[in-house]
Amino acid sequence: MQLIIIGFGNVGRSFLKMIGEKKKKGSNKFNSDLKAVAVLDRKGGAVDPNGIDPEELLKIDTKEGTVAAASNIGQLGLSPLSAIKEIEADTVLELTPTNPVNGEPAITYIKAAIKEGKNVVTTNKGPPALAMRTIVDLASQNNVDFRFSGTVGGGTPILEFVRQTVEVDEVLSLKAILNGTTNYILSKMYDEEIQMNEALKQAQLMGYAEKDPSLDINGIDPALKLTIIANYALKREFDFKDIRTIGITGVNLDKIRKDKKEKRKVKLICAIKKDAIVAPQSIEISDPICVDGSLNSIQLKTKHMGEVTLIGPGAGGYQTATSILGDLLAIEGTSYYLKQSTIPKVHEALS
Ligand SMILES: NC(=O)c1ccc[n+]([C@@H]2O[C@H](COP(=O)([O-])OP(=O)(O)OC[C@H]3O[C@@H](n4cnc5c(N)ncnc54)[C@H](OP(=O)(O)O)[C@@H]3O)[C@@H](O)[C@H]2O)c1
Repeated sequence: MQLIIIGFGNVGRSFLKMIGEKKKKGSNKFNSDLKAVAVLDRKGGAVDPNGIDPEELLKIDTKEGTVAAASNIGQLGLSPLSAIKEIEADTVLELTPTNPVNGEPAITYIKAAIKEGKNVVTTNKGPPALAMRTIVDLASQNNVDFRFSGTVGGGTPILEFVRQTVEVDEVLSLKAILNGTTNYILSKMYDEEIQMNEALKQAQLMGYAEKDPSLDINGIDPALKLTIIANYALKREFDFKDIRTIGITGVNLDKIRKDKKEKRKVKLICAIKKDAIVAPQSIEISDPICVDGSLNSIQLKTKHMGEVTLIGPGAGGYQTATSILGDLLAIEGTSYYLKQSTIPKVHEALS
């Protein structure tokens, strides 16, 4: 499968490293011949129809700060739209930063790729949270696939967990911790009894929080994820703007200390019953979703199975790269497991 990779940051670099390593090891579970024929960042791209050498590209990018500096194959100023239109490939990996306001420019890239008959895999929350129905319909009309497993839970298969549960049981309610950054901050405040500013600084030093942490702190990131879960996995037509979203800025040490005495912890909880909400909530320490550090967790209350919980790392380059790989194998139909069962295309799952 020939790939165009748009965005070569933490996720894109980890993905390319991972497929390079897997090919070297000749993993027998990895039957697919995945080949990056173009890789782009904001300055331009590197293009090689025979397949780009991952190690060489990573070296150049680390040294020069752009893939466009690659000798012989580098193209300064190459734009994502030109690459999508002009370069032959089966699938586009859209890995640019999340824009929670209008999902751009990713939505434009994704629509262009689909119209060119290319499948799309994205880890960017903007497009599936803000334009899922439009993109899925376009993909269906053009007979290509659009997948986004890495948008929720990083490598932890939260979307498939919910979707598969919905298929076999009635989900009565959902509650989850979907943002590793705020969970890390709240855990630090609890463990070390430090102020939020201090905990945020530590999260930034550890690489868990961005320089501008507002998307996490204000609850926007988990609200985008909850929108994706609701629309794709729960098949509920939820608008991102309808989710009541309250961030963690109002949580203080007094509240944390009071909770401690009552064997509770305050967490940024995403919940869906009739309505959807993202807000800080004190939950019992013994509650299975009460995880610490940068972990994510999700619990479904169902009619027949009762309560089912999934816990795992919610982000990370390599973790998220495994989701991309899973999506690609699903598109290609080369996954051993997918030959036994079938994960439907998103438009089939949604219909
Ligand atoms: N990191 C994680 O653990 C994680 C987990 C799940 C989902 N995600 C999502 O996955 C996406 C990628 O995350 P990341 O951590 O890899 O981000 P990142 O490290 O900030 O990298 C973003 C990349 O996109 C490039 N880029 C930005 N705007 C572009 C444009 N208009 N056209 C072409 N390239 C553009 C950047 O180019 P320059 O290098 O030139 O700036 C950079 O290479 C985001 O939407 C993020 O929310 C991330």
